Amino acid sequence: MRINLPNIIGHRGAKDLAPENTIPSLEVSVEHNIKWVEVDVKISKDKIPFLLHDDLLDRTTSGRGYPYNYLYKEILNLDAGSWFNKKFSNTYPPTLKEVLIFCSSKRIGLNIELKPNKGKERINVNAISSLMKKNKFSVQYYFSSFDYFSLKLMRRKMPNATLGYLINNFDEKKLTSILEDCLNLHCFSIGFNINIINRTLVKNCKEKNFLVTVYSNNNIEYRTAVDLWAIGVDSIFVDNPAYYKKMLDNS
Ligand code: G3P
Ligand code: MG
Repeated sequence: MRINLPNIIGHRGAKDLAPENTIPSLEVSVEHNIKWVEVDVKISKDKIPFLLHDDLLDRTTSGRGYPYNYLYKEILNLDAGSWFNKKFSNTYPPTLKEVLIFCSSKRIGLNIELKPNKGKERINVNAISSLMKKNKFSVQYYFSSFDYFSLKLMRRKMPNATLGYLINNFDEKKLTSILEDCLNLHCFSIGFNINIINRTLVKNCKEKNFLVTVYSNNNIEYRTAVDLWAIGVDSIFVDNPAYYKKMLDNS
């Protein structure tokens, strides 16, 4: 299914303004008038989908090791905010369900990135798809992933799901095979690392009718964003929406 995306999407909420992948990060996005946010999802030992970017709990929580070794009730007790700023010490890693309810209530769209630990792809997709099927969230959303296998699994579980493929570099696949894979899976978008995006790449994706998104490890500056939109990029993942204030206030 094809959906429209705004030209700015909050990255892990608004990761420069509040701890990434937490409710405060989503709240600050809403305060900045962001209309869509992106989050990364993993599963706990008891197969609860929750927000976490890294393979390990260590960088962004008070926990240690792999998330799939802990029950969600243990993860819920972790501090997911102090590493960013002491004032967020009461912040925990939220479940995807809580995030979907939050986005529904604020009427913002959600990009759910499937980011399973290696070997956990099937459990991750099963848990997320069954959450989506069991509940009726009034939220616009799409799934994305760097992991083609996860997208393939999701397509099987949810034939009508909206899917986007993410590409970090061209080491593993050439653009022609990426486009072919995306056509086969009926993806609606392709997301590229800012380091590899260029006009020709965008043109090639557009010819096949894909939306193009761009992400970076660092906040994309407004001037850079303007250049990216000018070459046809549809959406940019932004860490700090404050840089886009004027635009967001008028949206
Ligand atoms: O979906 C865009 C972006 O989130 C991909 O990179 O590592 O921040 O999840 P990462
Ligand atoms: Mg992500």
